[in-house]
Amino acid sequence: MIVTIDGPAGSGKSAAALQVAARLGLPHLDTGAMYRAVALDALEEGILHDPDRIAQRCRLLSLEFDWSKTPAAILLNGRNVSDLIRQPEVTEITYVAADNPWVREELVRQQRLIGQKCGSLVTEGRDQGTIVFPQADFKFYLNAHPEERARRRIAQLQKKGNVDLDVDEVLEQILQRDMRDSSRAVGPLSRPKNAIDIDTTELSLEETVDAMISHIQTHAPAAKN
Ligand code: DC
Repeated sequence: MIVTIDGPAGSGKSAAALQVAARLGLPHLDTGAMYRAVALDALEEGILHDPDRIAQRCRLLSLEFDWSKTPAAILLNGRNVSDLIRQPEVTEITYVAADNPWVREELVRQQRLIGQKCGSLVTEGRDQGTIVFPQADFKFYLNAHPEERARRRIAQLQKKGNVDLDVDEVLEQILQRDMRDSSRAVGPLSRPKNAIDIDTTELSLEETVDAMISHIQTHAPAAKN
């Protein structure tokens, strides 16, 4: 069974995807981590402004997940970069990977291979239900009002010890990321046609996960296991 979860930054899809995967006993694939890892590599190699080299390196890099950890750790050429890729400096430049059509082609290929190997999984990103797994058994599209998504982002950053935050600035960053994610030429963020919409603005994580699990359980007989 393939379950895809797409949606913009701060829609709650990562936390929900992890819990849905745990409740279904399936692996959880964080495809954003793959784009972040390719961008981290480009940053470390000093090739941020060279899309051809980023694409070339992407094809040669080893990107692996260590599924024994929850959430799965991501290994870039064998090195655990799970924390590094979440740093704001990397978030800011991840577009160099996400906007690069050759990188997308390669990562889509790798994501489909992971899907084939696992057989069943819960995968999250921007293009999982539209491009990568159009045949998925269940597709969810999560969204929330931008102000709420900014509030969540601030809470996340504060947890990491970041106290000096400007609400308007964080909201502006969220809106810019939305624009960038939905307007890219290849693999833009868009709602899969047959997706189940969940507006998480006023939902707790538990309520969001319950809604998804309940939908899957109600329709599961039609799904391949
Ligand atoms: O979900 P995230 O914030 O970790 O994603 C990081 C970036 O990668 C984000 O700007 C969108 C992009 N992304 C993408 O273009 N396609 C995906 N399938 C997943 C993420």
